[in-house]
Amino acid sequence: MNGGLTLGAVYERTVAASLERVWENVHDWEHLPFLHASSFCDLVLETAEPWGWRARVQVPPRENPRELLIELRREEGAERYHTRTLAGFGAGGDIATTLEPRGDRETGVHVEFWLSEQDPSQAKAIGQAMVGLYTRLWDEDEEMMIQRQAFLDVRRAAEPAPECPKAIALGSPESVRARAPFFAEVGGQRVRVLEHQGQLAAHSLVCPHLGAPLDGAELREGHVVCPWHGYRFSLSTGLNPDGRRCRLAHPAQIVADAAGELQLSLA
Ligand SMILES: [Fe+2]
Repeated sequence: MNGGLTLGAVYERTVAASLERVWENVHDWEHLPFLHASSFCDLVLETAEPWGWRARVQVPPRENPRELLIELRREEGAERYHTRTLAGFGAGGDIATTLEPRGDRETGVHVEFWLSEQDPSQAKAIGQAMVGLYTRLWDEDEEMMIQRQAFLDVRRAAEPAPECPKAIALGSPESVRARAPFFAEVGGQRVRVLEHQGQLAAHSLVCPHLGAPLDGAELREGHVVCPWHGYRFSLSTGLNPDGRRCRLAHPAQIVADAAGELQLSLA
């Protein structure tokens, strides 16, 4: 028992990410409804501070979601944080997560699920369900942290780009439409060439926000949607329509030459 709470379960794992990446992820409230779309339908932030954040979240079922007020609070002087449900289903519980750095790119995660449920067998059942949920959340987070670290590593090691052609031939419009979507490289930049709403377009494969790979990003109404935080970028201008202060790298243009053959051009 811990202040009247019952220990429902303990979850332990090692993630292939540095302590710095894990803390970055813990403070990143914004990714919940996007990266963890199967566990969170929506989130409205109340506050985000150095100590953590508090938000109203909607959890499935999507057609009839439940609202919870969640607070994530760092424990001062320790590599530990508490996730508490302040209102809604499960209110009063305390999920205590302790982090232990185990090397440059490895962190131990120890989670204790302290529940307001008093009945031990009920608490055990809820605890097991929480372990299932946390396994999925940490799987998704680990993949994101590995990709983000790879993005940072490449950026740190970046050397001046060698002279790369600023335009490449793609072929006839029919052949391009038949092949799309496909990947190409122009001016040292990898892009995805695709057809969207009847138009051919190309976009950069790195989200300018935190470096998410956009290789398989969803397209919605003329925008590329980042899978990590849901940021949208116009296919034609790279601009974000929601006032975010980041912009997708200058999009390569698909232009026709005198013979009607298409080129991918950064000019
Ligand atoms: Fe996460």
